[in-house]
Amino acid sequence: MTTRVFRIENIEDDGGQIEAAAEIIRRGGTVAIPTETVYGLGANGLDAEAVKRIFIAKGRPQDNPLILHVAEESWIERYCEDVPSEAYILTKKFWPGPLTLILKRKDVVPDVTTAGLPTVGMRCPKHPITIKLIKAAGVPIAAPSANISGRPSTTSFKHVFQDMDGKIDAIIDGGDCAVGLESTIIDLTEKPPRLLRPGGVTLEQLEAVLGEIRVDKAVWRLMDKGEKPKAPGMKYRHYAPKAPVTVVCGYPERAAQYIKEHASEKTGILCFDEYAFMFDKLTTRTFGSSTDLKTQAERLFDALRGFDDTDVTEIFAQCPKDDGLGLAVANRLKKAAGFNIVDLGGD
Ligand code: TXA
Ligand code: MG
Repeated sequence: MTTRVFRIENIEDDGGQIEAAAEIIRRGGTVAIPTETVYGLGANGLDAEAVKRIFIAKGRPQDNPLILHVAEESWIERYCEDVPSEAYILTKKFWPGPLTLILKRKDVVPDVTTAGLPTVGMRCPKHPITIKLIKAAGVPIAAPSANISGRPSTTSFKHVFQDMDGKIDAIIDGGDCAVGLESTIIDLTEKPPRLLRPGGVTLEQLEAVLGEIRVDKAVWRLMDKGEKPKAPGMKYRHYAPKAPVTVVCGYPERAAQYIKEHASEKTGILCFDEYAFMFDKLTTRTFGSSTDLKTQAERLFDALRGFDDTDVTEIFAQCPKDDGLGLAVANRLKKAAGFNIVDLGGD
């Protein structure tokens, strides 16, 4: 399959490109879409055949449900029922933005989209091209992250092209993703609500609005055999570069020292900017200063992917604390490591 590339310089005068992409969606095709979190691999979320094409292009397990991307809050009622007031409190504050709400679904949403669950994830992304595309298509766009299943999510056109060229109908180049990590997922079908995946909207921000929130155990640790996380995707090894990763938690100085003592010639190092000098003879990727969580989130997946172009046989990574956006950064790092963690304490 030849994958078309749409490059939109001016959203007001795009030469009909958004309409052409919308037409592909309406006809049941697949289009990679830019969002503020990561790129999505989109198709008409109400069309079971179109949604199956997403699973095939990604090599994604069928039991892992997709998020429906909508143009605005008012679309929720088309696809969900028994919507609690908390949903609107959150959409007023955080939409468009990196927050997915799990709500009870209506029957119009096909089983393949939700992997047979009675609930559906709803998100309104903050990217003008994608909002315009959803409106033009007139249907919700089901979209997982636009990576081959198991690899780090894609945060730039280059990543999407690497993973998806020849497998989907089109890619829209919308530049680099501003947040860099997938959306926060909160399940509102339970009381108190449950955080299923940390992301750009932090746990502290959600607690400030809703009060008590439970954090699903899959955020902290690997699921045992037979144990089911509430977000099916959280049970898979994920975000993983080819070489195995060990995450070293604790004070940055102490973690850097530990890594230095345990690294060998073929070790790749993923560290905060200010510690790179300690590893000048090794393959090193940095992902921002230890105090700059926003940059860490933005650069993490690109840095993880970067190791696949090298011959490192193992990777040691520094890790931020679980506060604020650090919870999401640390979660993705730990998942990339299959929760292979050395904890030096110091928190
Ligand atoms: O930022 C994002 O959320 C990106 C962009 C493209 O919007 N999308 C994304 O999709 O990360 P994906 O498919 O890679 O991750 C969706 C996660 C999976 O872990 C899935 O199991 C969970 O959301 N999920 C989807 N629907 C669910 C539901 N009804 N109940 C529980 N978990 C659900
Ligand atoms: Mg994903």
